[in-house]
Amino acid sequence: MVRIAIFASGNGSNAENIIRYFKNHPSIEVGLVVSNNPHAYVHERAKGLGIDSFTFTKAEFEDGYSVLELLKRYTIDFIVLAGFMLKIPRSLLDAFPDKIVNIHPALLPKHGGKGMYGDRVHRAVIESGETESGITVHYINENYDEGDIIFQATCLLSSDDTYREVAEKVHKLEYEFYPVVIEKVITRSFHLDDETK
Ligand code: GAR
Repeated sequence: MVRIAIFASGNGSNAENIIRYFKNHPSIEVGLVVSNNPHAYVHERAKGLGIDSFTFTKAEFEDGYSVLELLKRYTIDFIVLAGFMLKIPRSLLDAFPDKIVNIHPALLPKHGGKGMYGDRVHRAVIESGETESGITVHYINENYDEGDIIFQATCLLSSDDTYREVAEKVHKLEYEFYPVVIEKVITRSFHLDDETK
């Protein structure tokens, strides 16, 4: 089994969707949810789905070692960021090379970077007069939203779309594609196809 840890800071609707997708999967499972916010709704979702969840402070995340200890204890192989707001420290990048992915709710390289998350991204997209938005799944490196792009999907915007309507269109894409892309990346990265040959 390849075991995933999901890092999430807020609502956790993507986290829930991913947990549900991999329930009963033959070779991939979600083992853990990690957050920087003890009040994040993602903890309730994890609990309801029988997945352990933990909170670390910003300082603990920056240092990375206590997070790493927990990931080892849960034998985690792969990290999925789903609405996670903090930077991933060097210690985690080194321990999980090319094994940390993120989803950004717009078409990178536009509308990314520090402070660009959730509704802020959708507002920026509208303010720029974009006619389309979408999702970007990418690997994580030491800079916000700059790792290699794995997958993008787009949605059309109307000139009168509110940021909530844009968010809804983007969430739809996230729910449809993020679990499938994660599955593909893990299958390739851990050579899961070979096991069935
Ligand atoms: C998602 O739209 C995700 O793409 C975004 O936060 C939202 C979390 O929603 N991530 C970022 O903006 C990262 N820069 P959720 O908590 O309901 O899954």
